[in-house]
Amino acid sequence: MPDKLLQIEELTVSFDGFKALSDVHFSIEPLSIKVLIGPNGAGKSTLCDCIIGKVRPATGKIIYKGKDISRAPEYRINQAGICRKFQAPGVLERLSVFDNLAVATRQNRSWQQNFRLNLSKPEKDRIEETLELVGLEKRRNLQASYLAHGEKQWLEIGMVVSQNPDLLLLDEPTAGMTAQETAKTAELIRKLVEKHTVLVIDHDMTFVELLKAPVTVLNQGQVLKEGSMEEVRSDPEVISVYLGRAHEEPIHA
Ligand SMILES: Nc1ncnc2c1ncn2[C@@H]1O[C@H](COP(=O)(O)OP(=O)(O)O)[C@@H](O)[C@H]1O
Ligand SMILES: [Mg+2]
Repeated sequence: MPDKLLQIEELTVSFDGFKALSDVHFSIEPLSIKVLIGPNGAGKSTLCDCIIGKVRPATGKIIYKGKDISRAPEYRINQAGICRKFQAPGVLERLSVFDNLAVATRQNRSWQQNFRLNLSKPEKDRIEETLELVGLEKRRNLQASYLAHGEKQWLEIGMVVSQNPDLLLLDEPTAGMTAQETAKTAELIRKLVEKHTVLVIDHDMTFVELLKAPVTVLNQGQVLKEGSMEEVRSDPEVISVYLGRAHEEPIHA
């Protein structure tokens, strides 16, 4: 295994001549958390879209497990172990918590109509493990529509984890959460790195601090700064970028 799970080199993305990303360099170590922050429009989601193969870069490389995936089809990238959780919860509202995880676990066997029948012992064990990981053991039989907002987000993280990804991309996982839910989410993400590598995009600084992970700041499609949260938040350029837009995204400093 190469020392980096993901390495991005000279990545440039152009939308009708507008450069959403220019010359971005970025890397993630295996079994670690990396945080991507930056004001609205900085290019964070575009970077994620490139990693999962939804957006094609104009130039540059995305090297994953030693191979350039920048031109690979989306399903291939997914099969290779990169999964993304989107901002909006995508749980199946009418199914129970357990059945949501069963569907996610069995997604590669979708021809099997009744996902609950014939779950193998290892599949059942995995679902139990995931329920515990995301703290929803006691909610297992509850219909997902009755979950609180934060619980739905955790279930969705559980659904992504059920696909056993090597690299998990979480785009604003704490959107709309209470402070308590946000703290629990940070704890959950820190547990995920025992088995997965996680790229987190967020702009809630209190949350980012709880992750205790290296931070990359994007601004106007370029990497502005990399370092620990302490280094980044005391950087004059970073401060000016955020303060200039403080009305949009408070830096909770
Ligand atoms: N499909 C697209 N077509 C044209 N412009 C886009 C598209 N996607 C994103 N952009 C532009 O690229 C820039 C970066 O967007 P985005 O990656 O969503 O930023 P962030 O996630 O950091 O808020 C923005 O100016 C946005 O308007
Ligand atoms: Mg975004």
